[in-house]
Amino acid sequence: TTEETLYRPNFHFTPKANWMNDPNGMFYLNGKYHLYFQYYPDGNVWGPMHWGHAISKDMITWEEQQIALYPDDLGLIFSGSAVVDHNNTSGFGKDGITPIIAMFTHHNMQGEKDGTLDFQTQSIAYSLDEGLTWTKYDKNPVISNPGIKDFRDPKVIWDNKTNKWIMVLAAADKIMFYSSANLKDWTLESDFGKDLGQHDGMWECPDLFPIKVEGSDITKWVLIVSINPAAPNGGSGTQYFIGDFDGKKFSVDADFNKQLQQEKAVWIDYGRDNYAGVTWSNIPKNDGRKLFMGWMSNWEYARDVPTETWRSTMTIARELKLKKSDNGYLLVSNPVTELYKHVSKTIKKDSLIVKKQEDIISKNKIDLARLIVELQINNLKEEQYTFLFHNKFGDTLSFGLDNKNKLYFLNRQKSGKVDFSEKFANTISKAKKGNTSNNLKVQVLLDKTSIEVFYNNGETVFTELFFPNQPFETLSIMSSDEKLILENIKIEELKLN
Ligand code: FRU
Repeated sequence: TTEETLYRPNFHFTPKANWMNDPNGMFYLNGKYHLYFQYYPDGNVWGPMHWGHAISKDMITWEEQQIALYPDDLGLIFSGSAVVDHNNTSGFGKDGITPIIAMFTHHNMQGEKDGTLDFQTQSIAYSLDEGLTWTKYDKNPVISNPGIKDFRDPKVIWDNKTNKWIMVLAAADKIMFYSSANLKDWTLESDFGKDLGQHDGMWECPDLFPIKVEGSDITKWVLIVSINPAAPNGGSGTQYFIGDFDGKKFSVDADFNKQLQQEKAVWIDYGRDNYAGVTWSNIPKNDGRKLFMGWMSNWEYARDVPTETWRSTMTIARELKLKKSDNGYLLVSNPVTELYKHVSKTIKKDSLIVKKQEDIISKNKIDLARLIVELQINNLKEEQYTFLFHNKFGDTLSFGLDNKNKLYFLNRQKSGKVDFSEKFANTISKAKKGNTSNNLKVQVLLDKTSIEVFYNNGETVFTELFFPNQPFETLSIMSSDEKLILENIKIEELKLN
């Protein structure tokens, strides 16, 4: 169908059919990356939630599996996480088989209809066949509801210091921290965040992990908190906090606190379509990466986007790193390097001298529907630098840097189909240029209906959807800088099997 050819992504995960939202239960084991996801198999809008499942060897090409978790008497299966229980602390292991434990929210629809407060509880399930089939624990839920209406999205990690499982849970306007020795009995340790960060929306889908500060031996803890609405450019977005965690309590780092006082909240992505992202568990020590993936949509219009067969896509898998500079802490994201193994064609140019508007690449050289572009501008002037994707239909997707006002921007207002929702193209997304560097490095991934822009090695990221009437055919740059030279241009086409 035209929908398949025009809109089905080449190198991002989509379910074959029907509705998907948050990534769930991501873990790695024996050469395979597992991705579960909020899934409604009977329709293309949100409905009674299941966990769908996909497996990949490299986080780029995915094979969809049978549904992993179905709704039951306790409720729908909302978001959650999964861990590999190497020491069989849960006791679910049998005959030497290591169990995988999933922890998720049971959402009881009847309870919600009846106006009760306690309809979200936390439950577990285990798998003895590397995540293909699951058995729910017969004593679910393992955490009953303390009278908090929004009480969901458990993310479990193993804490080396305390030798315990730690679980973070979103509770409307705060994060709750629990600990457990066996994944069945949980103790509430503390809560965090009531007075910090962005609060004009619901806190959802947290994640917590330690990470080394780049170029040092210092370890800090990252607490990721999605919020809907109230993202910097509208609707759903993901903020984070940098601090320390002592096995019981998370406390914000003093320097990071200063950033929060200035900016209110710090965001992982400034585009409108990266939500509910969390990290993979059980990444081997000799790898050690923090690997992240988000849902590439936004609750403001997710159910309205113009695909009928399936709805929603995941972001490219990303590696997260923590940098510290004079400007404070920064969680940087970059595509996982596995992506580049799929490059089938490369065009390199040392430089291109630009006169007002110049084509960087056109369709007869490379398929823009499976594209990676990298380039650099040195000696930025106080001018505007705009990159534009075009097609013959007249659709335009533009992004770049307004270096007078020190603002990055992404504009999809004329990018094709936009009027399926009032909220889809009502604004131009913006982000402050944080660093004072006079150079700009740009990396762009384009995949039919999504753009992911990584500025300055992932310091500022924009992830957004668009739905052109025809595929884009050219990428050009426009600027009032009369001495503009693009350097280190690398254009790559991907081939997926
Ligand atoms: C986030 C979210 C979660 C919830 C799930 C339901 O997008 O609202 O908080 O568990 O979606 O599908």
